[in-house]
Amino acid sequence: MVTIRPRRSVLYMPGSKERALEKGKSLPTDAIIFDLEDAVAPDMKDMARGQVASAVQAGGYGQRELIIRVNGLDTPWFEEDLKAAASAKPNAILIPKVSSGEDIRAVRDQLKALGSDPSIDLWAMMETPLAMLKALDIAENGPSDSHRLAVFIMGTNDLSKETGAAIKPGREAMLSWLSTCVAAGRAFGIDIVDGVYNDFKDEDGFKTECAQGNDLGMDGKTLIHPGQIGPCNEVFSPSIDAIEWAKKIIAAFELPENQGKGAITVDGKMVELLHAEMAKRTVAISEAIEALAQS
Ligand code: COA
Ligand code: MG
Repeated sequence: MVTIRPRRSVLYMPGSKERALEKGKSLPTDAIIFDLEDAVAPDMKDMARGQVASAVQAGGYGQRELIIRVNGLDTPWFEEDLKAAASAKPNAILIPKVSSGEDIRAVRDQLKALGSDPSIDLWAMMETPLAMLKALDIAENGPSDSHRLAVFIMGTNDLSKETGAAIKPGREAMLSWLSTCVAAGRAFGIDIVDGVYNDFKDEDGFKTECAQGNDLGMDGKTLIHPGQIGPCNEVFSPSIDAIEWAKKIIAAFELPENQGKGAITVDGKMVELLHAEMAKRTVAISEAIEALAQS
């Protein structure tokens, strides 16, 4: 049984920036990605690896989900990164530039060979042209007794670089890929977190893009700056109205006169059992958010 986890806000912290690593302990973000890849220059890779491993091992991040992003499989840093990450025991290891299900299996096998804790999840960056075409193959390789693939992270900057697709308000050029990854992920119980918004001082534009990701079915958004956490959490949290409506639906289906019914009327609207399931998820995620806030 996989417990429900809020993944509204997922903040990247450059592994080389000690100040950021410290600051993460007090930021209201649901998850933190300790980055060894894009945010770290080549001559800082070794230093960042050591610093991140120590920070994750030492802890102090409360209930926040901790993820280490290693360098890609075909880089000279990958093996050392994976070893260090496996022994630091984060909640998950994020693999960049995944392009097939084979990549997932290869990393899982290497982690097993290292004797690492099987409860460490894998997360996959969905950011190459091949990943968009092989999203199903990648997702199908997700479920596993050890090192299950738990989350897709959209890497929209790399996608833009590799394909030429523009990142503009509305993200028209990317919509089919975003939705493909949502469908592939959902089919195999994989959560999905949207790409970053680079113009971090533009709060209105950022909120609009958060809302778009939420509408597309994503669980949250990756962030680059602490200032983005508050607005992001707000957009991806169920509203008070949504929670009340969900509780109403659940209560209505529990009434004796509605036992065994598949569709009923609540406040003049048709509600089916599938809405009761959605309502239960809304209540569960709001309770998980509440629990995280109290911790
Ligand atoms: N995580 C944690 N803390 C961060 C942070 C982050 N991603 N980004 C900034 N901060 C901290 C700064 O250290 C600073 O802390 P202080 O006031 O205690 O000194 C505070 O937030 C304000 O930062 P600010 O001065 O506004 O930003 P900056 O100019 O220092 O940095 C960026 C701007 C974009 C370079 C920085 O936010 C960053 O490195 N973001 C992450 C980039 C990344 O990881 N990219 C890879 C994935 S796309
Ligand atoms: Mg990338």
